[in-house]
Amino acid sequence: MRGKILQNRLHLLVCSRRSTMKNIAIVGATGLAGRELLKLIHLRDFPLRHIKLFASQQSAGRVIRDSGQSFDVQSIRGDMFDDIDIAFFAVDGELSRRLAPLARASGAIVIDKSSAFRMDPHVPLVIPEINSDAIRAHAGIIASPNCSTTIMLTGLWPLLERFGASRIIVSTYQSMSGGGAGLVEGFEKSVKMYVEGRDTGPLFNNVTPHIDAFDAGGNSGEETKMVEESRKILAMPDLPISATCVRVPILRGHSMAINIEFPGSPPVSPEEARALIRDFDNGIRLMDEPDHGVYPMPINTNGEEFCAVGRIRKDTSSSNGLCLWISGDNLWKGAALNALQIAEKLA
Ligand SMILES: NC(=O)c1ccc[n+]([C@@H]2O[C@H](COP(=O)([O-])OP(=O)(O)OC[C@H]3O[C@@H](n4cnc5c(N)ncnc54)[C@H](OP(=O)(O)O)[C@@H]3O)[C@@H](O)[C@H]2O)c1
Repeated sequence: MRGKILQNRLHLLVCSRRSTMKNIAIVGATGLAGRELLKLIHLRDFPLRHIKLFASQQSAGRVIRDSGQSFDVQSIRGDMFDDIDIAFFAVDGELSRRLAPLARASGAIVIDKSSAFRMDPHVPLVIPEINSDAIRAHAGIIASPNCSTTIMLTGLWPLLERFGASRIIVSTYQSMSGGGAGLVEGFEKSVKMYVEGRDTGPLFNNVTPHIDAFDAGGNSGEETKMVEESRKILAMPDLPISATCVRVPILRGHSMAINIEFPGSPPVSPEEARALIRDFDNGIRLMDEPDHGVYPMPINTNGEEFCAVGRIRKDTSSSNGLCLWISGDNLWKGAALNALQIAEKLA
């Protein structure tokens, strides 16, 4: 009798999993974010029925191997979204703007990694740990934030949730992979040129305070994204935020130095902040024993699902402020993982 009940339960479990299984498309599957997404779909055992991979004409026919399976890459075409439930976009904004409406018209829900729709008031901009409720308001397109915005807000969330914020100042140290496969290739060429004793250009042995185009006020596109996207995700349209975004010569992993000020008093102590982060246990990890060499670094967070927070100390320039240092994997939490976590909420 007991065996029969267990068998029925197992059957129900299998049936309900089958009913949530999804047909997936990844547009930009050969790129840095797209490749990591395919890996994570398997690693996180996403309920997958079928997957189609798309990239540019030059990648059509290429075979991608992942988790012991082979997948054919196709070029974009009119019927590419037929029968697709969720279409992940990991291409540039221009292509997303062109193809996302096509996917939506075919009945797919688009999860877009580009900046194309992030500030559209009708498109939810989502970090699942923070504002997963926003997903419910989607009208066929959901945007995933910029990599630095995602890592910063994920790391700060326990403090923001408890104390709010009256000001945030952030300086980023962003890796080459944040700029896509082309930039990584350029960086690797520069390293080779250095080894050969040739002039490397600005990518190697240098830092560049220039990510995306500058506006009339002198802010780069990346800096404006961090400000505007953070305000939208936190639903704090007037939050004072200032960002300086810098590319550093490492391959993977973004870090940032943050000064956060809190409203009211008494001041938030570093001990209180550490306890909140230690206990939060959802996408972040406290690494804050500087005397023992324990603090966040990209080598700790690359290929990891958590963002690391440490170097927490009082901001000596503020009556109620803290300084923190956060690292996270721009290709996982900053891109593919966050997009997949959004899809998991839909599944
Ligand atoms: N890298 C990050 O850390 C990160 C973080 C957050 C958000 N994002 C965003 O995610 C998106 C992808 O970034 P990425 O770093 O993965 O870029 P990437 O490495 O340069 O990959 C770009 C992808 O787009 C495909 N593509 C280019 N032109 C195409 C076309 N005409 N038709 C179809 N596919 C085309 C490429 O295919 P081919 O290989 O065939 O050229 C490739 O698969 C961007 O919007 C980026 O801003 C990236």
